[in-house]
Amino acid sequence: MEKQVSEGGIGRCSLGELYDPFSAAATYDIFAQARSEDPETYSAQITLSPATPFTDEVLATLKEGGFASKSEVDLVAEIFYEFPAHILFLILGIPDSDVRKIKQWADNRLFLTFGQLTPAEQLKCAKDMVAYWHYTEALVEQRSTSPGDDYPSQLLKLRDDDDSILTLNEIVSVVFGLLLAGHETTTNASANAFHTLLTHRENWQMICADPGLIPNAVHEALRFKSSVVCWRRKTMKSVEIAGTQIPAGANLLLALGSANRDEDRFDDAHVFDVMRKDANQNISFGYGKHFCVGAPLARLEMEVLLEEMTNRFPEMRLVEDQDIDIIRTIAFRGPTRLLVNLGV
Ligand code: HEM
Repeated sequence: MEKQVSEGGIGRCSLGELYDPFSAAATYDIFAQARSEDPETYSAQITLSPATPFTDEVLATLKEGGFASKSEVDLVAEIFYEFPAHILFLILGIPDSDVRKIKQWADNRLFLTFGQLTPAEQLKCAKDMVAYWHYTEALVEQRSTSPGDDYPSQLLKLRDDDDSILTLNEIVSVVFGLLLAGHETTTNASANAFHTLLTHRENWQMICADPGLIPNAVHEALRFKSSVVCWRRKTMKSVEIAGTQIPAGANLLLALGSANRDEDRFDDAHVFDVMRKDANQNISFGYGKHFCVGAPLARLEMEVLLEEMTNRFPEMRLVEDQDIDIIRTIAFRGPTRLLVNLGV
């Protein structure tokens, strides 16, 4: 397999390189190319295999949370914030005790890339990013001396000490990327889905009555209100889109959320309907060779959350008159808290 090898071993990536979204994306170019040439080795199934199918232990985290004893809970704080991280940690072989620290770093990374921070806040977040990067490096280094059955160990095995296959820096970059992409997205998507379903109560009642509708409800929730509303692209050649000429090499921010509500593509695009036939045609996970590698996992997590919650708390309702505060970034969306009455 031919691929371009980036220079440098572990730890040689400068902070500037890390935070330039387009050069960070270059590592994913290598992976996307590898995936298209050797789909089996780089498949989503292999990537996610350390965590899927879900074990009873993972599912128990949903049952044993302290939330069930309260009537009013913040679903974000009690469930959505940590649940996807626990699963991702199984994939990466990280101890659960680090969840809060990583979530905080991931939040800061989001704000640094897509938010609007003051210079002082930027400095603080940048310092956190260095710690975050060193954490990732140490993780990969540790797996190179004592491998497990996690994804970093799989990548190291694939590399087989050969930079022409993968450099250590590329492996660290991928793990660093997953440490954000693999949970923050799903935390927000789950919160959006519950918020949408509970504000369109007839849809909530439909999935309570017929859990077989849940997989399509997840597609529709992702179409209607995704957690990643914009994504980036660079034009490889000059192109005309809807009468606008875009030159080669232009950096674009694509409004995925808008495309998902395109009236020319979806009938009654602004209506939320768990029965929608083409809900799975949404582009919330992107498109083409960079299509989100975690899409099957994210959907599975959301399905499990909905199955569990509709089964146990069919009378769940949003607490009335609450202010829904949305995380303030241009690309990632989701309520910072979602107060519900469990109806028990
Ligand atoms: C609902 C949750 C999620 C949403 C909305 C989401 C959305 C996206 C989007 C829009 C992209 C860009 C695709 C493109 O450029 O065409 C992407 C890429 C990616 N996502 Fe996700 N994602 C989610 C969950 C996850 C999870 C759970 C993982 C990992 C376990 C993950 C890992 C990745 C990776 C590694 C890429 C880069 C793929 C590449 O560039 O080749 N994502 N995701």
